[in-house]
Amino acid sequence: MQERLYEIRKRAKEMISSGESPERLNEIKVAILGKKGELTTIMKSLKDVAPEDRPKVGQMINEVRSEIEEQLDEANARMMAQLREAKLKAEVIDVTLPAKKPAVGHRHPNTIALEEVERIFVGLGYEVTEGPEIEKDYYNFEALNIPADHPAKDEQDTFYINGEMLLRTQTSSTQIHAMEEGRPPIRILAPGRVFRADEVDATHSPSFHQIEGLVVDKDITFADLKGTLAEFAKELFGEETKVKFRPHHFPFTEPSAEMDVSCFKCGGKGCRFCKGSGWIEILGCGMVHPRVLEKCNIDPKEYTGFAFGVGLERIALLKYEIDDMRLLYENDARFLNQF
Ligand code: DAH
Repeated sequence: MQERLYEIRKRAKEMISSGESPERLNEIKVAILGKKGELTTIMKSLKDVAPEDRPKVGQMINEVRSEIEEQLDEANARMMAQLREAKLKAEVIDVTLPAKKPAVGHRHPNTIALEEVERIFVGLGYEVTEGPEIEKDYYNFEALNIPADHPAKDEQDTFYINGEMLLRTQTSSTQIHAMEEGRPPIRILAPGRVFRADEVDATHSPSFHQIEGLVVDKDITFADLKGTLAEFAKELFGEETKVKFRPHHFPFTEPSAEMDVSCFKCGGKGCRFCKGSGWIEILGCGMVHPRVLEKCNIDPKEYTGFAFGVGLERIALLKYEIDDMRLLYENDARFLNQF
């Protein structure tokens, strides 16, 4: 019996020291100390031992039992400590690593260009307003001296909602709202979205943006228009920028002009950017037509005004040297992230 006990003790020791997981230790515990374990079986056979030897043998069994329990506990504690350490090591955080940059959004080139234009005109005392995108024919055409049979009406391929309502083809409609709602002196800048039934290509889109300007006051002359727009061009494209006004026709202004700026790429010598001419067209403008003033109950004998309209996309494309307008609408992050 004693020999068997010692043999169990020896085997338990070996198994415990080579047991490599808490699960394995538990198996060993069950096999030796469990209900049907080896040591328990021996304990049960104590009744076969001579009565006088029982206390001694019983004590021996108990000693072996507590020895094995102790070893199991120790091995278990050691393993748990190792596991904890390994877990800590795996979860270690290197606080010296550079932090991840949070992704910050980018302003759209249109927005940047618009804010620049607004900054310039607000500095000149203009108020920024907006008008509706869905307009009555009256505001988009008729009040702007474009009657039903006017050819300019066909040129601006219009999205009609019904016989009377349409998607505005130009921000010039905001001129009428400004003159109906306010009395001179008026000095407004009205940016917004406009719509034309155009096919999409590098320079056309069915929806784009314009920025309208309107000044109405006593004694406003073409010199005011020229001075204002020349100042605008210098602020936007650089101090050396020259401007040139070419006669043009718009139904709602008289006289009308288109303004060119000297090419800011080549300084006017002629390059690929300005298609060799040295000049780049940037806006339409003119003196508010007396008939337009009259329609808004402003007496053209007392008041005069000038107006201008700038294509926002055109400014953005020029300023950032982008050669395809479609890039502005596709919202490709690889493109937008550059601004
Ligand atoms: N509305 C014109 C267009 O869409 C642009 C324009 C020209 C606006 C002359 C004006 C202006 O205010 O005076 O082509």
